[in-house]
Amino acid sequence: MGSEGLFRILPLRNGLFTFAGMKSFYRDLRVGVVGGGQLGRMLIQAAIDLNVHISALDPAAEAPAAPYAHRFVQGSLTDYDTVYQFGQACDLLTIEIENVNTEALAALQAEGKTVYPDPAIIRLIQDKRVQKQFYRDHGLPTADFVLVENRAEVMAQADRLPAVNKLGRAGYDGRGVQVLRTEADLDKAFDAPGLLEDLVPFEREIAVIVARNPQGETATYPLVEMVFHPTANLVEYLIAPADLPVVQAVRAHEIAVQTVEALAYVGLMAVEMFVAPGGEILINEVAPRPHNSGHHSIRACYTSQYEQHLRAILGMPLGDTRQHTPAAMVNLLGAEGHTGPTRYQGVEKLLAIPGAYPHFYGKSTTKPYRKMGHVTILDPDRAALDHKVEQVKAAVQVVAAAGEA
Ligand SMILES: Nc1ncnc2c1ncn2[C@@H]1O[C@H](COP(=O)(O)OP(=O)(O)O)[C@@H](O)[C@H]1O
Ligand SMILES: [Mg+2]
Repeated sequence: MGSEGLFRILPLRNGLFTFAGMKSFYRDLRVGVVGGGQLGRMLIQAAIDLNVHISALDPAAEAPAAPYAHRFVQGSLTDYDTVYQFGQACDLLTIEIENVNTEALAALQAEGKTVYPDPAIIRLIQDKRVQKQFYRDHGLPTADFVLVENRAEVMAQADRLPAVNKLGRAGYDGRGVQVLRTEADLDKAFDAPGLLEDLVPFEREIAVIVARNPQGETATYPLVEMVFHPTANLVEYLIAPADLPVVQAVRAHEIAVQTVEALAYVGLMAVEMFVAPGGEILINEVAPRPHNSGHHSIRACYTSQYEQHLRAILGMPLGDTRQHTPAAMVNLLGAEGHTGPTRYQGVEKLLAIPGAYPHFYGKSTTKPYRKMGHVTILDPDRAALDHKVEQVKAAVQVVAAAGEA
C-alpha cells in the first residue's frame, strides 16, 4: 500500500479529523501532554501499550512523568510562550491538569495542531462561573446559584444561607470552596469573582467517567462513589461500582453523556455529581481529563481511563468500559505534620493484603495531604472490600524521612 507509513489526516463525516495510516502505531505521531503529574505518568503507562510517543511539560524537574516521557520539558504550564513552544514540537496536544495556558493551545490549534480537549472547552471549565452558567443554559441539572463579584455581593445574599461560596478561577482540591452556614460566616467570603450556590445536603457524591471521540461515539464507566476526607476536602477513597438504585444510576450516565455531547467534547471527562435527598442527580463540576475517580479502572475495567483517553483523542474506537471486579481506591496522602523526603511506611504490610495494588507517584518530597500515591483494592465481595479499605489505611503511611524533615 503506497500510503502506508505516511502521516495522513482524514476528514470524517462530521468535519472533524483523525489520524490514520501511520506505520508504527503511533510512534511517528508525537502526543504532547501539558502537565507531568501522576495523571501524566499513568497516561504514559497506557501509551506504552499503544506505542504512542509522549512529550510532557511540567514546571517541576522531578515531576512524576518526567523520567518516563520520551521527551520532557521543564517549564510553566500557564506561560504562553512555554506552552506554545512545547506544542510546536508535537502533532497532537492534550492536558492532564486544567490550569494551563489555553491561549497558547488555541494558537497551536489555529495553526493546524490537533488539541483535545478543545482549548475553548478547557477555558470554559477553568472558570466555575462559566461552567455553572453552561449547565444552566443547557438544561443540565445543577444546584441553583448566583454569580458574585466580591465579598460585598456575597454579604448581600444572606438570605441564601447556608450556601457554598466558590472562586471562579484557580480553585483546586478544595482551596477555592467554602461553606457559609450562617451570617457570622459571611465576612470570610472570598473577595473575588465567584459564585454562591445552594448547599446540597447530598446523600452521596458520585462520578461518571465518560469518553467521546471525534466521531461522536461515547462510552461511560460504571458509577463511582467518592468518600471524602472529613477535613482535607479531598477524596479519601472511592468504591466502584457504586451501589445506587437503577433509576439514579441511569440518570447519572444520561447526564454525563448529555454533558459531553452539549460540549461536543473529545477526550475523557470526569463528571462529578451529587445525589440530592430524594434521589435527584445534580452536576457539581467536571474535569476535562483522566481523574482520581478513575484510577481503579487500570486494574478493574477492561479498558483503563488512560487508554480510553488516548483512544478518544486519537480518533480510535473506544474501549470496553465494563468493570470485571468490584474495586476500591484509597488515596495515599502525605501524613499531617510531615514535610520532607518521601518515605512510604508499611509497604510490606500493604503488599500482604490480597488484592491490594499500590501505585506510588514518585514525588521526592511529601507534605500534609499531598497526593503521594493510591492503592487499588480488588475483591469480588463488597463486604471484604470495605474491610480491606480499613486494612490499607492502617497499613501504609506517607511520612518524611526521620531526621531529614
Ligand atoms: N453545592 C454544594 N453543596 C454541598 N457540598 C458541596 C457543594 N459544592 C461543593 N461541595 C463540596 O465541596 C467539594 C469541593 O467542591 P468542588 O466544587 O468540587 O471544588 P474542587 O474539587 O475544585 O475543590 C465537593 O466535592 C463537595 O464535597
Ligand atoms: Mg471537585
